[in-house]
Amino acid sequence: MYSNEIIFDFDVENLTPVLKKKRQGNESINEAIARELDVILTKYKGQGDSLLEVLHQVQQLIGFIPRPVQMKIARELDVAPGEVTSVISFYAHFTEKPKGKYQIALCKGTACYVKGSADIIKRIEKEYGIKPGESTDDGLFSLEVVRCLGCCGLSPAMTVNGEAHGLLNPEKAINILEKCKNRGM
Ligand code: FES
Repeated sequence: MYSNEIIFDFDVENLTPVLKKKRQGNESINEAIARELDVILTKYKGQGDSLLEVLHQVQQLIGFIPRPVQMKIARELDVAPGEVTSVISFYAHFTEKPKGKYQIALCKGTACYVKGSADIIKRIEKEYGIKPGESTDDGLFSLEVVRCLGCCGLSPAMTVNGEAHGLLNPEKAINILEKCKNRGM
């Protein structure tokens, strides 16, 4: 059984909206993930050209795609495990580890870049000890660098859990994140 192979250690409040919706009755989190994962992988069995779609659905379901799940996807879709891992590391949307409670998306598109977004990224990396694609050890923040947030007039810009903040400089960005930190987990 899949649920014996991979154990997820989740707090219920950290479940993705998709998993919250799909979980049935008294099902454990592991059982719910196993069942839904089987639904996805049965549908796309042997279809290596559907890898992106499968990764998208699994990311939506679990919130991240850990190595044992990557291995299972590779087996079921009949693709090389290395291919799954390299697709995940290529697209910022996919993560191997859970994202933080506060998900920072910092824009490095042209408008933001010329107005200093690289300095903001460096400052966040230094302040919280994370690189793009990583989360802080306490699970509070995760950092993602994106190409354009669609609010170039406010550059340099970032979103925190989808909420846009613009006309930033390193200090302003840290102030916003410290307010999140003070609100805690
Ligand atoms: S380039 Fe940053 S919001 Fe468009």
